[in-house]
Amino acid sequence: MNNLNKFNLSGKYALITGAAGLLGKEHAKALLEVNSKVVLVDISKDRLYDLKKNLNNENCFFYELDVTSEKDIFNLNESLNKQLININILINNAAINPSVKSKLGNSLLSNRLEEFSLDDWDKQLDVGLKGAFLCSKIFGQTMSEKLNGGIILNIASDLSVIAPDQRIYSKDDLNWNEQNVKPVTYSVVKFGLVGLTKYISTYWAERNIRCNSLSPGGVFVEQDQKFVERLTSHIPLKRMANPDEYRSAIQFLCSEASSYMTGHNLVIDGGRTVW
Ligand SMILES: NC(=O)c1ccc[n+]([C@@H]2O[C@H](COP(=O)([O-])OP(=O)(O)OC[C@H]3O[C@@H](n4cnc5c(N)ncnc54)[C@H](O)[C@@H]3O)[C@@H](O)[C@H]2O)c1
Repeated sequence: MNNLNKFNLSGKYALITGAAGLLGKEHAKALLEVNSKVVLVDISKDRLYDLKKNLNNENCFFYELDVTSEKDIFNLNESLNKQLININILINNAAINPSVKSKLGNSLLSNRLEEFSLDDWDKQLDVGLKGAFLCSKIFGQTMSEKLNGGIILNIASDLSVIAPDQRIYSKDDLNWNEQNVKPVTYSVVKFGLVGLTKYISTYWAERNIRCNSLSPGGVFVEQDQKFVERLTSHIPLKRMANPDEYRSAIQFLCSEASSYMTGHNLVIDGGRTVW
């Protein structure tokens, strides 16, 4: 067998959560390239509409779904099963990517630990962690009942391995207790996803389900120049990622090409976490 054939996902269905965001779209393109059919779910109807126009591909199926609702995930799974759509691959990608906020202006909006609200904590953990748990529970159970098992891939971050360096986000004109920070929830969600990955990888191993996580480094989307300079000074390859640079990893992790890999956190970060 030509080894490249192991990447072929013809006849498979992959479900991607948070699919209408920056990276979700890239994951979809990666899987379509290797002949998978893709079920693209997102909470935002408008973004899904744009995605549908952008992809314009008959192998894509679009559903509005809130990953924090167990009932809605259950109903979607039932409806897919009735249409004989068996999800072989699940990518837990949805997240609330909270903006880095400073204390100035409205102190209630601060991400600083001393002021971080329980409401923000709940919302961000609900989408990033509870959503991944619920989708794994429901779609994973259906996979576990099939002979050919499946693949669950959790999208974490380089911040699943290291703590955020808050100096990257700082502004020269602010006091220490007013500085912008990456919120605590980001670390908790991403480290939590690695724990969920390891748990599922052993739990369903005998049901032929492999579970890994992918930890991308930051993607360049015209961020503030000072921020980019500070961040890239921590990255041996001296740059942020292009949006399409995780596609090969998605193809690898979601196919037989990674058949002996489970419970792993694949970090692709230009070397940031090596330093
Ligand atoms: N962009 C980066 O630089 C980067 C770096 C490392 C890790 N990541 C991770 O990659 C993943 C995708 O990031 P992104 O940059 O594409 O984010 P994004 O904000 O562009 O997309 C996230 C998507 O999730 C959707 N979403 C939010 N709440 C939802 C819910 N309750 N149910 C269903 N969908 C919901 C949003 O509508 C959005 O379309 C995230 O897990 C993120 O943490 C991103």
